[in-house]
Amino acid sequence: MRILVVGKGGREHALVRALAESPARPTLFCFPGSDAISELAQAVAADGVESLVAWMQTHAIDLCVAGEESYLVKGEGLANLCGKAGIPCWGPPKESAQLEASKEFAKNFLLRNAIPTARATACATLAEALAAIDDAYPTVLKFDGLAAGKGVAVCPDAASAGEFLDEVFTQRRFGDGRVLVEQCLTGPEVSVFAAVVDDSYLIFTPARDYKRIGEGDCGPNTGGMGAVASRQLIAPEILAQIETQIVRPTVVGLRRENLPYRGFLYFGIMLTPSGPQVIEYNCRFGDPECQAVMPLVQGDLAGFCLAGAQGQLRPELLTFDEGWSVCVILASAGYPESSRSGDLIAGLDTCGNARIYHSGTRQTPAGQWETNGGRVLAVVAGAATRAAAVEQAHAAAGRIHFAGLQRRHDIGLLHFT
Ligand code: AMP
Ligand code: GLY
Repeated sequence: MRILVVGKGGREHALVRALAESPARPTLFCFPGSDAISELAQAVAADGVESLVAWMQTHAIDLCVAGEESYLVKGEGLANLCGKAGIPCWGPPKESAQLEASKEFAKNFLLRNAIPTARATACATLAEALAAIDDAYPTVLKFDGLAAGKGVAVCPDAASAGEFLDEVFTQRRFGDGRVLVEQCLTGPEVSVFAAVVDDSYLIFTPARDYKRIGEGDCGPNTGGMGAVASRQLIAPEILAQIETQIVRPTVVGLRRENLPYRGFLYFGIMLTPSGPQVIEYNCRFGDPECQAVMPLVQGDLAGFCLAGAQGQLRPELLTFDEGWSVCVILASAGYPESSRSGDLIAGLDTCGNARIYHSGTRQTPAGQWETNGGRVLAVVAGAATRAAAVEQAHAAAGRIHFAGLQRRHDIGLLHFT
């Protein structure tokens, strides 16, 4: 079996590793890939989605796995082009990927399907946005498009809202687009992942992401400074509620609205005092949640994704460990405002049983690893109890060093804010 994974970060490193461990021992390729991923999957050079799909056709690829979302909506869309070329793709077509690419599309889908979510108003101008906020703070402002994780602002007051609206409507920082003014919800956040195949689904181990840079959930938002995953993270009755009120109606809604879906669907959920509500959909696995979840997945992930991409959900191919997995991110100096590259990394081979996934590294001509981006490494450990997984993940993370390294020491401690 020949599989190509699309993406280059820690999530794709974890996916590639899980696919590599599948019983069929597939031959793996990655686009664009990274130096670390190249150890398991040959990097493919292509100058766009069209040329990538043409490459897959000439190189007899059996399955394309979408890790990163951007390619799903670029040009004609990765899955759409794979469909035309007859290549099974684990990842949805462009029209369905609007669930992630457009906040307004997602909100309307949620409302049409009576799925619990925050109230929101779509606004085309600064004046409309100010009228919709109507001096009710805190408020949440969301740019209606892909904005590399920078398109959402939780605004405690008029000054912070004014600043964000200025970036959107005056500076056009994210390009043209509207803004959703959304009711601010409160409660712990969880990430729930389902493998969706047409009208059926399988829920994977849920996870929690630590989005803020600082301990105790302080400071600016990041791509994620760590994650904890376990079936025990969410009480069984809440998970059942999430399934019946959110996951199932989403899958039914996709069918009813003729939005084909075969791939991972990520539900960003807030456990509010009045029940779970959807904050966002993503048409892919989470990063760094994927790095925490994948070590808990046993069985034949390659066979599962191939069957899914061909329209068959085969839950019997996978089992999920009942224990806990903790992922600690090591980030470079300056992150998240900026990032620094070129700092040599020491201690990578001293981490024992912990798994190391590379998010932003490169190899020097002499074969040494150095930083190459904001999030650099994900250090993951698993154990039967949360306390043991926390201890092992942090102990392993503490053995890795590079200049300017930033990490949170409270990843896995469950203070929900
Ligand atoms: P998103 O990109 O939609 O996941 O939003 C980024 C972060 O903003 C989320 O992880 C939440 O912490 C926060 N957020 C988004 N929507 C809301 C909301 N309606 N109420 C409170 N916080 C929110
Ligand atoms: N961990 C958040 C995300 O992948 O969007």
